[in-house]
Amino acid sequence: MADTRSIGIFDSGIGGLAIAKQVRSFMPNENLIYLADTIHAPYGEKTEAYILERSINITEFLLARDVKAIVVACNTATLVSIKTLRERYPIPFIGVEPGLRPAALNTKTGVIGVLATAKTLTSQSFHDLAQRVAMGAKVEIQPCPDLVLLVEALKLSYEEAYDTVQAYVQPLLDKGADTIILGCTHFTHLKAVIQKVAGETVNVISTEEAVAREVNRRLQQENLRSAQQTPGSTLLLTNSDRSRFEQQIDILWGKADIDVF
Ligand code: SIN
Repeated sequence: MADTRSIGIFDSGIGGLAIAKQVRSFMPNENLIYLADTIHAPYGEKTEAYILERSINITEFLLARDVKAIVVACNTATLVSIKTLRERYPIPFIGVEPGLRPAALNTKTGVIGVLATAKTLTSQSFHDLAQRVAMGAKVEIQPCPDLVLLVEALKLSYEEAYDTVQAYVQPLLDKGADTIILGCTHFTHLKAVIQKVAGETVNVISTEEAVAREVNRRLQQENLRSAQQTPGSTLLLTNSDRSRFEQQIDILWGKADIDVF
């Protein structure tokens, strides 16, 4: 059955665009609505109740636009909200979790570093995930309070981001990490800088491809894939300043339909 309804994707800002891009390239015929909850970023500094309320409000907004599935393209929101969203709403929700499993399979030193928000790193779900999949590897955590805002401000070059990135990466290297997980979707936009700071022997892991593959798998499983032959539409929404969003999209996406909600 052809289901041409859109896939909804949301994040606290532009972090989830990296996931939306992979979804777009894996499933070129799907219609996408991406929502950047920019005025409420960063989620990592908010309470769980606040993040859950935002996730519910956004879900209602996307459902009113008749989406067939929602990608929670934010690690913090996934860990805080996805269980409740799945219980409340009858559509598939696909979340994003730090890539601990591939890290545990590939580390040689047995030390895995995780860069994420403090909210993610102190959550019970992260703790449970680490217990479940780390396979004896030591998981060293590094909260990164400034990185989300750095990305939102488009400070993405090596020169602009070096000091902040170095301050977060060096402690992990000092602890022997040979694998660094990007546990926040915003950090994907700094992957090249993080890789350069960490050095080429360090494996830097992000999860956008795995998430896009999972979206495809779930849609197929639920018979929700679109059969339309023409390229899908993409609508990118923000609740913040339009011209700033246009600038962000210009750099991170290219030409696209933009609107303010
Ligand atoms: C944020 O703090 O808004 C980013 C959250 C995340 O992707 O974990």
